[in-house]
Amino acid sequence: MEVRKGKEQILEAAASIAKITDIKPQIGLILGSGLGILADLIENPIVINYKDIAHFPVSTVEGHAGELVIGEVKGKQVVMMKGRFHQYEGYGVDTVTFPIRVMKQLGVETLIVTNAAGGINTSFEPGDLMVITDHLNMTGNNPLIGPNDPELGDRFPDMSTAYTRELRQLALQVAEAQNFAIREGVYAGLLGPTYETPAEIRMLRTLGADVVGMSTVSEVIVARHAGLKVLGFSCVSNMAAGILDQPLSHAEVMETTERVKAKFLNLVLGVIEKL
Ligand code: 6GU
Repeated sequence: MEVRKGKEQILEAAASIAKITDIKPQIGLILGSGLGILADLIENPIVINYKDIAHFPVSTVEGHAGELVIGEVKGKQVVMMKGRFHQYEGYGVDTVTFPIRVMKQLGVETLIVTNAAGGINTSFEPGDLMVITDHLNMTGNNPLIGPNDPELGDRFPDMSTAYTRELRQLALQVAEAQNFAIREGVYAGLLGPTYETPAEIRMLRTLGADVVGMSTVSEVIVARHAGLKVLGFSCVSNMAAGILDQPLSHAEVMETTERVKAKFLNLVLGVIEKL
């Protein structure tokens, strides 16, 4: 089993960043496939390559860069992960969630996470945006397994409001003000890298999932452990297996996220403005 990075590594990573900037971001962003361009909207950006941050791994997946960008968006100080880590890349869950510990150390209080996900709810359509109301951790793992450092959080964190209600309300208001219908629903997080079988999708639907993806849940668990408020969005990039009579492809995921990129970006920007 991987050795869990603790307070010492968190402080060292934060120190690598503090050497470069003294900005204290209050908002953290982990944006999935296609939304990396939000980084281009950050004013006076400080760009730090993951390889220059102590204990940060390097991202490998197609369509993901590997940079931390710190600066200002809509008058708010933000830190953004341009490129996230996934367990399907071979990283342990500790590695995947380490950046969230570092964000907390930098002063972040609110985390915004986005992802591309497959639609399970048959009333959803590719291109829909969804506020995550709750999740199903179907990864078979938990990033908090192992000794608990009480300095980092509780042994048994409450997950009854993992996705902060006020932030969800705010997101709905922003979508309404921007004149589009936004969905709400439950995100099921699986390991991947295979997409699910039709039987698995029927199972997930029975269990109450509206969308399915390969990220987010471990990050949110650690964010909640660290006491961060969380807002999550999914972009329905395709329908999950067995719903339409067509195979799933990463190309479709990329095409859809590209198509709704502007709408998705405006939503995130609109929320940041109101935080
Ligand atoms: Cl259908 N499944 C999973 N696990 N992740 C996805 C997806 C489906 N579509 C986009 N990402």
